[in-house]
Amino acid sequence: MQIITTVNRMKEYSRKASQNGKSIGFVPTMGYLHDGHLSLVRAARKECDVVIVSIFVNPTQFGPLEDFDKYPRDIERDKLRLEGENIDVLFLPEADEIYPGGCAIEVKADNSISEVLCGAARPGHFDGVATVVAKLFDVTIPDKSYFGQKDAQQTVVIERMVKDLDLPIEICVEPIIRENDGLAMSSRNMYLSGSERAQAVKLFEALSEAEKLIKGGEDSSALIKEKMKSILAEGKDIEVDYIETVDANSLRSVEEVGSDTFIAIAAFVGKTRLIDNILIK
Ligand code: PAJ
Repeated sequence: MQIITTVNRMKEYSRKASQNGKSIGFVPTMGYLHDGHLSLVRAARKECDVVIVSIFVNPTQFGPLEDFDKYPRDIERDKLRLEGENIDVLFLPEADEIYPGGCAIEVKADNSISEVLCGAARPGHFDGVATVVAKLFDVTIPDKSYFGQKDAQQTVVIERMVKDLDLPIEICVEPIIRENDGLAMSSRNMYLSGSERAQAVKLFEALSEAEKLIKGGEDSSALIKEKMKSILAEGKDIEVDYIETVDANSLRSVEEVGSDTFIAIAAFVGKTRLIDNILIK
């Protein structure tokens, strides 16, 4: 595994690989890697000749009051985990490599997809994500890039960016990897205290109940959301940000759950904001 820290060297490597007819699979991350991240790496390893993983905690996607400074980082542990996955390159740039002149021009996602759901509480977040991913695509020149269903809204924004900007990149979306009790893996789970960790599983329980109701023939969003709310209310430190049922492509709210509906939750468990979702096919 080569470690590359500069944009120029990364571009040179990717150009050479492309010219030699190699397919490039790219997995962008912010590090503190868990099995969710590694599932993307494994999918890329299976499908591509060259696998590039980036670790970059992107400042432009954090709001001023968010956790950029305390976002968990452990590069040595991440390197060890990636060594075991047989990847080709770990791209590990500093912020001034990615934003050498600041960030005066950015990719702006339409409000209809960037200011709903998580975007309502995190203004500018998805523009920051789209901007850094566009820059990382430019540097790594992937044929395929891998994202997790865990961040469902992020995948919608990236898929639209690729489509609307005609980028020749296939976006592959991989399923959510969960802990044994169902909690979706997340780098932010390490913020949870013991009691918060026990309550955090309520997000999955609420989504599982929604799935059960839908399988039983229920399609009223209002009723499903009400039931999910009552399950989340059982956690004394849980404060719901949103429970939404939206069309999986447009992210518009739906009143009747049908095929291609996301059921999405964001909730604070103590001070930690967690998200989770299921996709109804
Ligand atoms: P990060 O939160 O590190 O996540 C990197 C990738 O891992 C994302 O595509 C995310 O959806 C996926 N992922 C996280 N938890 C997962 C889980 N439990 N199961 C499956 N996949 C999971 O998302 C970001 O970083 C950033 O916004 C980034 C795209 C790197 C841009 O800065």
